[in-house]
Amino acid sequence: MYKVTLIAGDGIGKEVMEGAKIVLDKLDLNLSISEKHAGNDCFKKTGTTLPSETLNSAKSSDAVLFGATTSTPNENSPIITLRKELETYGNLRPIKSFKGVKCIYDNLDFLIVRENTEGLYSQQETISKDKSEAEALRIITKKASEKISELAFKQCIKHNYKKITCAHKSNVLKKTDGIFKESFYKIAQEYPNIKTNDYYIDATAMYLITKPQEFDVIVTSNLYGDILSDEGAGLVGGLGFAPSANIGDEHGLFEPVHGSAPDIAGKNMSNPTAMLLSLSMMLDYLNEIDLSINLEKAIEKTLKEKKVLTPDLGGVNTTIEMAKAIANIL
Ligand code: NAI
Ligand code: MG
Repeated sequence: MYKVTLIAGDGIGKEVMEGAKIVLDKLDLNLSISEKHAGNDCFKKTGTTLPSETLNSAKSSDAVLFGATTSTPNENSPIITLRKELETYGNLRPIKSFKGVKCIYDNLDFLIVRENTEGLYSQQETISKDKSEAEALRIITKKASEKISELAFKQCIKHNYKKITCAHKSNVLKKTDGIFKESFYKIAQEYPNIKTNDYYIDATAMYLITKPQEFDVIVTSNLYGDILSDEGAGLVGGLGFAPSANIGDEHGLFEPVHGSAPDIAGKNMSNPTAMLLSLSMMLDYLNEIDLSINLEKAIEKTLKEKKVLTPDLGGVNTTIEMAKAIANIL
């Protein structure tokens, strides 16, 4: 039996989590599910965006599924704290084009592996007394850089990719990105059968538009990875299609890349695909490989048939109706 914590969060996080629960109900899996609060609504009720009860449940679970939260001024983001507390040093963001979905490119299939704990997301910022100057610390360590490279090579093999590209800016950030690039090539020596190259981050951003088919796995630091993965999502139909996994040595935390989308929240019109693809990644992590593949196929089929779709996909259906259509194929 697996213990899974569900954290819906705010806005459409709540809606897409309802969709995930419909699918979870259909799966032939022995699960113990705990539903916990986090985010801005939670802050208004409890004074914290991430209650210790939520954190403890996440820590004692085999996997955590997270919706999305609305940011709260002056409070740390729960997902960033969770990634840190669960020591999920690697963020996996697959970019795949699905048939039936309007994509800038068809037949894209690559994986962005983003370092998840340091870089410009170290959350160490200071501001001068007169508030005229602020600094953010960008921490890059050999340990984290080697770990993320290792994860990238392992994922490359697991998912049958052939090549890894390291994206950095070591010509300007000579020390920090210098460490990142060196660590990548150090780990690469252990995997002589996998092709490697590296590009500057700005060039990578351009190549993602001009020749995205050439990418297999991209490994990069925290903020770069965040930006590239939204760009990647844009190539294959937008944030409604971008799932992600946060992987550590002991924990897995799964979440759609999108936020709480206040502009459409409460209307039950959000696209559940990214959340359900994240659930599929969770099943893969739990080694329920068949269930994971079947769920992805059911999503693929629903998108291709175009019978039950949310408005962003040109349909007229609700989040829940689309999730039910996917669940019914299982
Ligand atoms: P967002 O991802 O919430 O929305 C961006 C745009 O994409 C909006 O027009 C939205 O309607 C659309 N969109 C997003 N997901 C969709 C879906 N599943 N179906 C259909 N359309 C979808 O990003 P935004 O607007 O920058 O941020 C809104 C709030 O979410 C902010 O408070 C932000 O801090 C937070 N946020 C939280 C994240 C998390 O919890 N992991 C990640 C990103 C943002
Ligand atoms: Mg982002």
